[in-house]
Amino acid sequence: MVKIAPSILAADFVKLGEDIRSIESADMLHFDVMDGVFVPNLSFGLPVIKCVRAFTKLPLDVHLMITRPISLVEKFIDKGADTVTFHLEADEPERVLEALKLIRARGKKAGLSVKPATPVSMLEPYADLLDNILIMSVEPGFGGQSFMDGSLRKIEEARALADAVGRGCEVEVDGGINRLTARACESAGATVLVAGSDVFKAADRAAEIWELRGN
Ligand code: DX5
Ligand code: ZN
Repeated sequence: MVKIAPSILAADFVKLGEDIRSIESADMLHFDVMDGVFVPNLSFGLPVIKCVRAFTKLPLDVHLMITRPISLVEKFIDKGADTVTFHLEADEPERVLEALKLIRARGKKAGLSVKPATPVSMLEPYADLLDNILIMSVEPGFGGQSFMDGSLRKIEEARALADAVGRGCEVEVDGGINRLTARACESAGATVLVAGSDVFKAADRAAEIWELRGN
């Protein structure tokens, strides 16, 4: 059964606490952190993670769409992140490796994400250090986009890479997840699904999470 990670990017920040309570049947909370440089959008950062950490017991799944992630990965862990996933495209190989090691040295889960145009094979040099592979099924930066069908092959490739390493690495998919694409992603080997607009627009959010899980 896939795990569901609602993205609070789609929440109403005027009533974030209430919105979080409405999705606490999920498996974790997904935080789309954007710096306006790596992606053409600016979202939220450390203060939000700190407040949410104190508010809910759900695991915090932080997705850094930022440049030079090595400078901030430990600060997100200090504020309560359980999984820190950043983009392969965001820094040079030696600093990508160093940032992964920093996260793992703190006993947290380390992940790498690839944009739609980046081949999964680019993750191979880091595979032994990964607890999470995040496949972007939309161009990072905005919620509410449509699922890019070419993503299914990438999910299969990520699944094969994770299985080859054999450390139980998650395959997470982010962007355009709904009841239809959720099943396709699960069949392709995904184990975690990020859903923003599909969950927060639902009349009954708990029921939508249940449907996305494919119970
Ligand atoms: C893109 C974001 C979105 C978001 C999910 O950078 O990462 O993928 O979390 O948005 P929805 O579920 O609305 O496509
Ligand atoms: Zn995300």
